[in-house]
Amino acid sequence: MNVYERIIKEKSCIYALAPMEDITDSVFRQMLCDIGKPDMFFTEFMSTDGYMSKGRENVMHRLEFRDIERPIIVQLWGNTPENYANTVKNIVNLKPDGIDINIGCSVKNVLRSGHCSALIKEPELVKDIIEAVKSKAGDIPVSVKTRLGYDSIITDSWFNFLLEQNLDLITVHGRISKDGYNIPANWDEIGKVVKLRDVVSPTTVILGNGDISSLDMADEYVSKYGVDGVMVGRGIVNNPWLFSRRGDIDEKERLEVLKKHLELFKGTWEGVKSYNSQKKYVKMYISGFEGVSELRQRLMECEEVDRALEIVEGYIEESAISP
Ligand SMILES: Cc1cc2nc3c(=O)[nH]c(=O)nc-3n(C[C@H](O)[C@H](O)[C@H](O)COP(=O)(O)O)c2cc1C
Repeated sequence: MNVYERIIKEKSCIYALAPMEDITDSVFRQMLCDIGKPDMFFTEFMSTDGYMSKGRENVMHRLEFRDIERPIIVQLWGNTPENYANTVKNIVNLKPDGIDINIGCSVKNVLRSGHCSALIKEPELVKDIIEAVKSKAGDIPVSVKTRLGYDSIITDSWFNFLLEQNLDLITVHGRISKDGYNIPANWDEIGKVVKLRDVVSPTTVILGNGDISSLDMADEYVSKYGVDGVMVGRGIVNNPWLFSRRGDIDEKERLEVLKKHLELFKGTWEGVKSYNSQKKYVKMYISGFEGVSELRQRLMECEEVDRALEIVEGYIEESAISP
């Protein structure tokens, strides 16, 4: 039984956190382990070409994870089967719980160079890439995350093809590449993929992805569209506590979580990532209490994590003594 089947057996469906570059790194994933853990995580996507080049050091940080983040799926991108095979040959030593191939990203420069969702137009190359990954993955499950098409919806042909590749899991982001994130996800088409799966490859697990903003919504969509689980992306940015099902997180808890995040950042990424890259988390964790705008502003103006920590700690002390 692979990791996906095990989660479904235990919990009936999978709530996964989406890979999101510059957001869902090891520090943020560890924070979610504390405040509301999904059933599985994905790493940010890592370039197989970068990994196989002299610049390996520049992409390696994307592979970093701690055991508490398991189950964790490493996500790769690239368009050279040989680089996938050589990358996977190395990363199996990290014992990830799965290896995912990104055929969904729609960022312009990635598409221009024929990567990610541009591969939807190249099924033969995709077949070679999947084979290359499988040839080195051993018993680690292999999956694909993709969209409904490149410049038009081609659900039938594209997913028929993918389902014939014996994948353990497919994540279906319910938009085409051309649409980026601009229109609502098309869950009817995601539902069609589930029906195809039932015929072509009943053992392939299907996750639906697009616009899920709460676990109640996730449950509704699982039952309405028949997916085995959902993947949540931007929903976590709006509410980092989403996977806990809790509402009304108070000021004290929000501040303590931000403090812990900054401490973890300092211990993990200092010298690798700048404090600037952490400002998005300030906005994510602290909201909805009196004086928050002014506090946020002060943290936005900071340039060093130590100064930011001083400000947060000072604020926590002040709020503790004020009546
Ligand atoms: C800032 C950002 C970074 C992303 N990075 C990745 C990535 O590294 N790999 C990937 O497969 N998708 C990436 N995505 C796409 C998300 O995983 C997800 O498919 C998309 O946000 C749709 O889900 P949502 O509507 O729940 O946000 C990214 C999305 C955003 C907004």
